[in-house]
Amino acid sequence: MPARVVATVSRLGFAAVGAALAVAALGGSSMAQSVTAAPPAVSVADAAKVAKGRDLFANYGCSGCHTLADAGATGHVGPSLDGDANLTHDFVVDRVSNGQGQMPAFGGQMSTDEIEAVATYLTAVAKKP
Ligand code: HEC
Repeated sequence: MPARVVATVSRLGFAAVGAALAVAALGGSSMAQSVTAAPPAVSVADAAKVAKGRDLFANYGCSGCHTLADAGATGHVGPSLDGDANLTHDFVVDRVSNGQGQMPAFGGQMSTDEIEAVATYLTAVAKKP
């Protein structure tokens, strides 16, 4: 075989091995996850609210002031929502609706349904303290 063909074949060979390793690594980590951290049971209705809440969190600029890993948010004006012991559903609804200190009130801009969705989202995804 001419050298160029050999080089091409061996490159393809490495690519295939690399892909197989990547698949093995992914399979391994998702298996490890399912053993160590079973996700909380979320109903279909809640899953829709969580998805909507995730969009709203990005669209209303919450990320600019708060840290939340799920949203890729690293803001530091307000407290981190990851590891926040206050985060119950009703507490979030109250803070987002009415604000507090430098936290703006969103009650005038967001519908009750939207605030509800953000609260469902935050209590579902925020890292527990
Ligand atoms: C301009 C910056 C800013 C924006 C934008 C903002 N927040 Fe806040 N947020 C704050 C500050 C500051 C606090 C702390 C208020 C206080 O207790 O004095 C806070 C508090 C909170 C709290 C209560 C945390 C706790 O433990 O006391 C929640 C929940 C929250 N914000 C959610 C949101 C959500 C959801 C959005 C988007 C809809 C948002 N924030 C947008 C600044 C902001």
